[in-house]
Formats: sequence, C-alpha cells, structure tokens
Amino acid sequence: MLFPTKSSPLVFYLNGDKIVDEHVNPEWTLLTYLRNKRRLPGTKLGCSEGGCGACTVMVQRFDREKKKIVNFAVNACLTPVCAVHGMSIVTVEGIGSVAKGLHPVQERIAKSHGSQCGFCTPGIVMSMYTLIRNKNVPTMDEVEVAFQGNLCRCTGYRPILEGFKTLTVEGGAGGCCGAGMQSGGCCGGQAMKNGGSGCCMQNASEPIFPPELQLTEKYDTQYLVFNGERLTWYRPTKIEQLLELKATYPYAKLVVGNTEIGVEVKFKNCHYPVIIQPNHVPELVEIRVEDKGIRFGAAVTLSQIDDVLQEQIAKKPAYKTRVFKAIVEMLRWFAGKQIRNAAAVGGNIITGSPISDLNPLFMAAHCELVLRSKNETRVVQMDDSFFTGYRKNILKSEEILTSILIPYTKEDEYFWGFKQAKRRDDDIAIVNAGMYVRFSVGTNVIANINLAFGGMAPTTVMARTTASSLIGHQWNEGVVDVASKTLIEDLPLAPSAPGGMIEFRRSLTLSFFFKFYMIVQDELSTKLPYVKPLPQIYKSATSLYHRDPPQSIQLSQIVPNEQPDYDLVGRPVAHVSASKQATGEAVYIDDMPKFENELYLALVMSSRARAKILSIDPSEALEMEGVVDFVSAKDIPNHRNSVGGVIHDETVFAIDEVTCVGHIIGAVVANDQATAQRAAKTVKIEYEDIQPAIITMQDAIKHNSFYNDWIKILKNGDVEKGFSEADHILEGEMYLGGQEHFYLETNAAIALPKLEDGEMEIFSSTQNPSEIQLLAAEVLGVPENRIVVRTKRMGGGFGGKETRGMLVALPVAVAAQKQESNFLEKLISRLKRPIRCMLDRDEDMACTGTRHPFFCKFKVGFKSNGKLTALKLTMYNNAGNSLDLSASVMERAVFSADNAYNIPNVDFTGILCKTNVPSNTAFRGFGGPQGMMFCENVMDQVADKLGMDSVKLRTLNMYKEGDRTHYNQSLTYCTLSRCWNECLENAGYEQRLAEVQAFNKENRWRKRGIAAIPTKFGIAFTALFLNQAGALVIVYRDGSVLMSHGGTEMGQGLHTKMIQVASRTLKISSDKIHISETSTDKVPNTSPTAASAGSDLNGMAVLNACKTIMERLEPYMKSNPNGKWEDWVNSAYFDRCSLSATGFYKTPDIGFNFATKTGTPFNYFCFGAACAEVEIDCLTGDHEAVGEPPLFLAAAAFYAIKDAVKAARAENGKTGPFRLDSPATAERIRLACEDQFTQKFPPAPPNSYKPWSVFA
Ligand SMILES: Cc1cc2nc3c(=O)[nH]c(=O)nc-3n(C[C@H](O)[C@H](O)[C@H](O)COP(=O)(O)OP(=O)(O)OC[C@H]3O[C@@H](n4cnc5c(N)ncnc54)[C@H](O)[C@@H]3O)c2cc1C
Ligand code: FES
Ligand code: FES
Repeated sequence: MLFPTKSSPLVFYLNGDKIVDEHVNPEWTLLTYLRNKRRLPGTKLGCSEGGCGACTVMVQRFDREKKKIVNFAVNACLTPVCAVHGMSIVTVEGIGSVAKGLHPVQERIAKSHGSQCGFCTPGIVMSMYTLIRNKNVPTMDEVEVAFQGNLCRCTGYRPILEGFKTLTVEGGAGGCCGAGMQSGGCCGGQAMKNGGSGCCMQNASEPIFPPELQLTEKYDTQYLVFNGERLTWYRPTKIEQLLELKATYPYAKLVVGNTEIGVEVKFKNCHYPVIIQPNHVPELVEIRVEDKGIRFGAAVTLSQIDDVLQEQIAKKPAYKTRVFKAIVEMLRWFAGKQIRNAAAVGGNIITGSPISDLNPLFMAAHCELVLRSKNETRVVQMDDSFFTGYRKNILKSEEILTSILIPYTKEDEYFWGFKQAKRRDDDIAIVNAGMYVRFSVGTNVIANINLAFGGMAPTTVMARTTASSLIGHQWNEGVVDVASKTLIEDLPLAPSAPGGMIEFRRSLTLSFFFKFYMIVQDELSTKLPYVKPLPQIYKSATSLYHRDPPQSIQLSQIVPNEQPDYDLVGRPVAHVSASKQATGEAVYIDDMPKFENELYLALVMSSRARAKILSIDPSEALEMEGVVDFVSAKDIPNHRNSVGGVIHDETVFAIDEVTCVGHIIGAVVANDQATAQRAAKTVKIEYEDIQPAIITMQDAIKHNSFYNDWIKILKNGDVEKGFSEADHILEGEMYLGGQEHFYLETNAAIALPKLEDGEMEIFSSTQNPSEIQLLAAEVLGVPENRIVVRTKRMGGGFGGKETRGMLVALPVAVAAQKQESNFLEKLISRLKRPIRCMLDRDEDMACTGTRHPFFCKFKVGFKSNGKLTALKLTMYNNAGNSLDLSASVMERAVFSADNAYNIPNVDFTGILCKTNVPSNTAFRGFGGPQGMMFCENVMDQVADKLGMDSVKLRTLNMYKEGDRTHYNQSLTYCTLSRCWNECLENAGYEQRLAEVQAFNKENRWRKRGIAAIPTKFGIAFTALFLNQAGALVIVYRDGSVLMSHGGTEMGQGLHTKMIQVASRTLKISSDKIHISETSTDKVPNTSPTAASAGSDLNGMAVLNACKTIMERLEPYMKSNPNGKWEDWVNSAYFDRCSLSATGFYKTPDIGFNFATKTGTPFNYFCFGAACAEVEIDCLTGDHEAVGEPPLFLAAAAFYAIKDAVKAARAENGKTGPFRLDSPATAERIRLACEDQFTQKFPPAPPNSYKPWSVFA
C-alpha cells in the first residue's frame, strides 16, 4: 500500500477564521503555533507539560455519529498542531476583548479579584468558558473539576471560585451580571440602566462553530501527511493504512493525546521521526457494549470513557458495574480535565508507567486487550505477564493495541481501586492499587483474588503469593493478618529504591488492603447473615474522599459616606490590569512582539554538584543550522564576571568550577528557541568531581561548611538563668522544607542593544530593576547611565525574582553585547542583535533556588503552669552555593522567632550553611515564617508535655500592649489579643474542639484536629538603606497623568494601590491616571519590591509627588474655583508652571544595629490569628491540601494536622511530644500515626544504604 507523500495543507478554524497552512511544521505544538505564527500571545506558556493549565484553549469538533458539536478544553502546550486538522480552536482572544467587551467569564474573574498576576487567568477563563459552552448553568462541583488542571499561585482560588459561582446553580446563575461585585453583590440590572456595559450575560459574543466543519466530512476522512524537516506525521483513516504504516515504520509512535510523547520530546530529549495519529481510524475510537463488558477503542479518550462508564453505572444494576465505578473514581483523580480530554486509554496502557493509575485496575479486572499487526490479531488478558520490564510490554514492534474490553462484574465479585498521591487533584500516584475478589457463590469464601499494585516496582505488579494464600479463606479479619504477612514478601522495596518514601509506600500497600477488606466486609454483611457488620468506628475509613463545596467570605472596609467618588482609597477596586489579564491582552516579557533580527538564548547548566570544569566543547552546537554563537566565561573579563545580590560571590558564567547542579556555564544563541534549546543540549562539558559535595544542612554541619561571617545572634535576658528557674526543660529538633516559588511566568528577559554609546535596554521580569541595571552595567563595563531596565509586569514573583532575575538578564545582556563586538571585529552584521530568553519551567527550577530549608535545635524551659522562662533556638538555613540574601533571611528569622510571645530569656542563633545546591533566596515572609514556625513548634510541644490545651498555653504567653520584644522594640497599637480573641470566638473554637474530640472517639481511622495560631510580623526592610522610594508624576496638557514609581507589579496590585493614592491626592478619577511600567530611567536607585513594604514606601513617594503637583496647581484652582482639573492644568501650562514632580520617601526613625543591638528595626507590626480544623485519613495520610496565601497563618492547618495525628497516636497509647517536620506531607502524616501497619516497616539504619533522595 502506498502512503501519501506530498505534504497536506493543515486546515482548521481559529477564533472563527479559517486557517490553511501549506507548510506546517509537524514538530510544533498548538501553543507554539498560536504564539509564534498567529501572534496570539493570550494563551500562556507556564510549564510545557500539561501541569499548569496556563495554555488552555477550547477545541471544537463535530461528532458525526452523535450529530453534535463537541467542546473540550485542552493544553495547547501538548496538543500537536497537526492534530487539530478539521477542528475549530477558540482562544482567550476569541471570546472577548477590552475594546469589544469582555465575555461574562472574563468579566467575572476580573471583577471578583480573581486575577492578580494574571498569568494563569486566560487558561482559567478558557476552562470555565468551555464548561459553560457545554452546560449553561454548571454546578460548583463541575467548576472544581474543570479547574483541576489549572494552577493559580497568587489568588488561593477563593476569589476565582466566588466570581464564577455567579454562573453556577449554587450562585443562582441567570440573575447576577457581576457588575455590582465591587459593592458586594448583584447590581440588579443597574449597570445596564446606567448606560454601563450592560448586563454582562447579554454581552456574551460566542464564536459560532464553523458551519463548514459541520457540513462537510472531508477534513475527517482525508489520509494526511505532514512532512517536516525532522518529522513526518501521518493521519490514516483506515485500519489497513494504520497497520501498513506500523509495519513499514515499526519504530513509529502512535500519538493521540501526546501527553506522554510530548513530555518525552520536550524534556527527555527524545526524537521520533515518524508519528502516526490513529484517532481517525474507526476501530480505534469505537465504543461497543458487549455481553462481557464494554469495549473501548485504544484511541478513546479518558473523558469519553468516564462519560460512558457513568452512563452504564446509572443504567445497570450496581453489582454489574463495580469495575466501572472504581475506574470512574480513579479518573476523577487522574491528571486534570484538559489531560483527560486529550489522553487516550491506549497511551496509558502502552506507556506502561509503573505508576499508571489505570493499569492496576485493568490488571486486577483482567481486562482483555486486542493487539493487531498487518498479519496477526491477538487477544490477550491483561495481567502481570503483559509488562516485561520498565515501560516495556509484550507488543511486537509492528503491533498496535486496538481495543480494551472492560468487564462487568457478577454478584459475587467485588472490586475497588486506590491511589495515594502527594495531593488529591492532578498529581501522579505514589502508590496505587486495583483489587478484585470473587467469592464462591453465596458465601464469603474467596474463590479468586487479584491484587495489582503500582508504585512498588519497575512495572505494575500483582501480589501472587498473597492471592494464592488467600484463596479458600473466609473473608474475616484473618485475611488481613495473612495479607499483612504475604504482601510484605510480594512487594519488597530496597531502602534505596527509586522514588524513595520506602516505609510509607510499603505501609500503604497494607493500608489499601485493609481498606479493601473493610469495604467488602461492609457489603457482605448486608447479604450474608453470618458476616459481622463492620464496627461503626471503622466505617469512615471506607468512605470515599469527599469535599464540601467551598464557602468563603471576604469583608471589605466601608468608606465614609462623605468620601468623594474619585477617592478610591479604602475601596475594593479591581486590579487595574484585571480586564486585560482576563482577555489575554496584558503583555508579559515573552508576549512582546519579536524585534527584527532577534535571537534566542538557551542556557547550558552544570549537571554536577561540585566539580572542576575540564573542558567545554560547543562545536556540535555551533555546526547546527540556525545557531549563531556560544557565550561563556571567555566572553567576560574575570573581574566583570563576578556578581551577586549582597556580595559578589557568583558568576554570570562559571569560571573553571561549578558549585551546584544548575550552575550556569554558558549559553547558545540561535535564530529561534527550538534550535537554541536543542543545540544547548549538545554542548559537551567534561568535569572532574570535587569531594565532598555538600547537599544537606547535616552535610554542612558535618563538614563545618558555613558562611561564618554572617552568623546572626539575638539574645535577651539570661537563658541559663531562665532554664534554672524552669520546672521543666524540653529539647528537640525540627526541619522545615524549602519551597519552589512556581511563579507562573518563569524568569525572562530581552536585551536590546542600542546603536550608540554602549546603551542597552533590558526588559526583565524582575522585582528589582535597579539591581539588574547595576549588575548589567558592571558586567558589560559601562556606566549605569547607559542601561535602562524596564519591567511592565511579572507573572508572579513571591521573592523568586528579587535577585534571581539576573540569572537570565545578565547572560542575554552579555550575548547582546557580544554580537556587537563580533560586528566590530568580523563585520558579520551591521546590526547589534536583540536577544531573548524565557526559561523553561525545568530550567527555572534547576537554577533559581527555593525558599530556604531550615533546621532547628531547640531547648525550652517552662513552669508547670505553662509560662515559658527561657528559649534557646539554634537555627540553620541551607543558603546554597552563594550568599545571595541568605543572611538577611536568617536575620528576619531571628527577629521573628518570638512570634507572638513574651519570653523573658531568649537566645536565637542563626547559622548559614554553605552547600552545593542552587543559591536559596527570598520567598514570601523572608525567613520570618521559619522563625515563627519553630516558636510555634515549641508551644505545641510544651502544651503536649504538660497535657495542656495549646490555646490556653499560647494565650498565657502572648504579648500585650507595651511589652518589649527581644530586640527591645516596644509593641504599640498591639492588636494581637484582640485578633486572637475575635478569631477564637468567630471560629467557635471551644465548641469545635468538643466536636473534634467527639468525632475522634467515634472514628478509629479518620481523625480530626483543630489549632489556632497567632502571628506578629514586623514591617520594614531590616537593611536600613532599602527603606526608601521614589516616584515621578507627570501631568499632560489634556489632564491625563502618567505615574512612575520604584515598585514593580507582580500581581499584588501595587499599581492599583498607587493609583488609589494618587486619585485621593490629586482629587481626580482613576481613569485619568496611568502607570505604564517600572523603568530605571524614570525613577532611579529603587529598592526591590519586597518586605511587605512596596505599598508603604512607594505610596508615600507617590503622595509626596502628587502633593507637589497640587501645591503648584493651587493658585490656578483658587483663581478659578468653578473650573475643573483640565482647566487648572491648562492654566498652569500656559503660565509656564512645571507639571511634573518627583516624590521621595524614607521611613523615619528606624534602623537596628546588629553589632550594638540597638535601634528600632521595624516601622510597625501587623498582627493576625487563624483557626483551622482538618481531617486526616490515618491509613493513607490523606488530608486537605493547605493554600499558602495567608502565609504564616496557614501554620494553623499544620498544627491542626498535628493535633489529628495526636489523636491517632493516642489510639495506640502514644502520648506526649513528638516530632512532625514541615511540610506535613501524606507520608509524614501516615508515618507519624504509628500503628500496627507502619510498625512492620522500621526504617533501615541510616548508613546502611544510599537514599534515593535527601532533604536539602
Ligand atoms: C500533566 C499530566 C498529568 C498526568 N497524570 C496522570 C495520572 O494522574 N495518572 C496516570 O496514569 N497518567 C497520567 N499522565 C500520563 C498520561 O496522561 C497518560 O498515560 C495518558 O493516558 C497517555 O495517553 P496519550 O494519548 O496522551 O498518549 P500519547 O503520548 O499520545 O502516547 C503514549 C505512548 O503510547 C503509545 N500508543 C498510544 N496508543 C497506542 C496504540 N493504540 N497502540 C500502540 N501504542 C500506542 C504511543 O506510541 C506512545 O509511545 C499524566 C500526563 C501529564 C502530562
Ligand atoms: S499546561 Fe501547558 S503550559 Fe502549563
Ligand atoms: S493570578 Fe493566578 S498565578 Fe497569578
């Protein structure tokens, strides 16, 4: 059979327009196509691996069998562009715009404060839009499912859900238009009456499904080929064509969702020259109800399977669909909606991942698979003989999987599935399982049993010994005893096995079986009189995970009646960019149109933790077509190559030695991103390892590897005396993990060299433009006045872009300058070339560092009544391979380690570990949360030791008005007790505590916990010189105002707040005031936007500048009291009065001297309190994940979890203080709930094996 050879044109519709592309590159994803070829940057790139949802678009196709339009959300970053032939794509730009009007979905997220940095917003909008295209008025549960694959790092989801609630059943959809949201609810049609944008629901302009796609089936029936330089894409439409192709190209990959292959190509450097798209072959997408069960073609998507199985569950008797139910429940926790809409069942089976969620179920159910090649058809049963090794199976190279039969169950057959992941939604399993049991008819005697486990070996495995030892047994507690012994033999795991978490994983296998036992026992007892019902206290262990619909309330300040309308201070105004963010019009660095002649830069990073660089060989990269240059340390004189945030102990490019994995060694510059990134992977580096590589804080302590000049100590009183006065002394340790910033927009920069005088403009996603300017000037060897750094907005920062922006900005600057010298030396080009780089998510995570992990040793003295007499904390942080801001982070930790308590004698010492991990850096709270967490841990342990209610203990030790901190700052306006009491009262703490205790008595395997936590946080940079800010206010002749200030906008709404300040001072409406960007040539020498001080400092500078303007306008106002703003501005202009003013502010009366321990570090304190109640599954460690936004107050959830663990431990007679490190992962929770299952897996002695992973 002949294959088509001439490349077919790609035809699809995009936001209603027909696209015919004669030369499509089959290697491109839909996202690359949208952003690069169609110049539609609204769809964002957050991760390239289906993990964040920023790239969500809606795909529409016509289902000819059902004769209906099908709409579904997909991740454009994984969807191959060739796969959308004959389909219609709707992007965020297609449904609304600021100029033409927002779609209700866009309007509501904008108005409900659901968009902060805005980088996730287009993706969230498109998930919601797709949902309401499919169902006019969805439920909140459907909204949550639609968002499983959408991450938002800024908002904590509450305002997003609140905004969209108005479109749901629960929100009374159909009524509210959302226009009145700012004043707290529905405007009752007022917006339309007032001539506003009208009822937003009526504004909706739905792009219609292109009639052509409905009328003709030609796009579905074409046998297509797309030829690219490195890849050929076939889309056969008949099974014979498909089998012929596979016979000819046995190495070809079949791609449906591309959710495996796309990740392999992007991140594992795999290249597949022939791709076959099989989902237009009828046999592969067929769904057939048969006598034995339901047959699904291998290319049927997971969402379709979900729908069909749910239909069957509703129609058929319950006993018949037990396997279906388990699959449906598993699919709910399988990836996110976008992935399930695209991924096919065949891809999951054939990939053969050992943590596939479906394979354990298919194996336990003994599903039937049909395998076909050109010459043969085989029907095989799916069991443990199907997988032959890690990601290997019995398929021959020319064979494909055509279908899977999922069987019905009979009355005496029971089935269930289990999955434990780090979090519930959209996460891969740690361990999963499928369990099947068949009883001899009408009895509880096991006739057959299949137990399949994922996550316990290189393939999904079956517990054969357990199965054979259980056959013939009655289903009673004895089976748990037998299985507990044999599962240990069936599922061994070496202490150093890949994936780590050995004791947890092994405990889970027993926990899952125990749960299965209870579930089946419960059912059997309803049928067989001699089977004992499950004890009531065990029942909750068998219930399905269930989440109540979210409820929330946000209270806004009420402004006085007499406050004029223009004055926005105190009003909950929407983020000034919210509408643009919701329509995809807000521009981030990589959305900027390409400059002519622009090049792309890809970093080359170290793969060794600590090594000498023996050689760097970029020759293969340089030979690749499209590669322009390789830049490295050779391109910068050594003295200009050293950089850093506080001291210069880092390099732009490594010189001779690397000190961490991710250390930047060089960069490839090429015509486009794909070439640059591919070429960067070919650069060969020879290393010679240097010992020891120090990774953890324990390593650093062992090797005495510290930044010794930067130890931070704060003491007050006399701890030894305090200990001697104590009734009790307690000592212990605690570890706090690091945290990825995961700003949705990774670090990005564009360097634009100018034609004269060494000038350069750098567009950078940085929280600190002035520092990038200073460092770039130093590195390039020019004065600072030649460099302008511009930051319009960032897609989130959280501290991660305070200093680390330089890791991208400086290499692009060096590369841009190098092109210039090439021009001078070799006359290559008459142009200096702009250079762009936006890190891939994995690159960003590899090189930028995280929140500092901390480790603490504590010793506390206390009286029997709970009053603390002395506290000694020795804190370590893992600073990484350079100092960066680690000393300041530690400084904040020692300042904050008293949290909210007046402890008479303290000794807080902070030591910085010098290690071979990427330099850890600023992160929300900047060391404060770590110090406070250690303090709260002490409170918790003291309460446990005394058997005292922790709230009582905290109240007893709490600061009061006028008390002095350990650095001798007096607490004035101390609202701590008020916050605390209000919080306890509003939360109904006492009553809840009683309810929690009652619940815990009635439930053995689920426990609840409750905790309340207070906090105090000092506001100011602890480095005095940073407490300054500037602003520039310009008034133009038409009365419009352009404002600049030193702060950067990263989602926190700083520009919005600055406009609020200006609106009050200038007495004009906000629509006259504009902030374009932060730029070092408008406001110089700025401080980073950080330390919770951005609004205070810049707001005062804006106020100062606006007051100057008003003073200058005063004479014109007086002389024309009935005039308006524009009149006064014009009069001033004609009178030759300056209409621009700078403003400046420095925080008065602060400054702390660490050497003398004198002075006042903070301008003021913020106080707060939170109460949290949680429920944990003691058998799996499952719990509700905790959002970070309230920052330290989220610690309340940690201590509530610890409280629940205490209740579980008490069941086994374990009382008193115990250690729980943070974060409270499912693993830590499960293992802390020590019981008969965990006891079977004591940890291996520490030095007897090499662990798979360590905690840095
Ligand atoms: C963000 C994300 C989250 C995920 N979450 C989960 C999860 O929670 N649980 C889980 O189990 N998996 C998860 N996965 C893995 C993946 O989504 C699934 O394995 C999915 O089912 C793969 O299907 P696909 O159509 O996308 O495969 P593709 O990438 O298109 O193909 C995968 C492989 O299967 C082969 N193949 C496909 N069909 C056939 C056939 N008919 N015959 C022979 N070979 C075939 C291909 O050649 C290729 O090697 C996740 C993936 C991502 C990106
Ligand atoms: S899911 Fe596509 S970019 Fe993250
Ligand atoms: S607003 Fe969602 S990630 Fe910033």
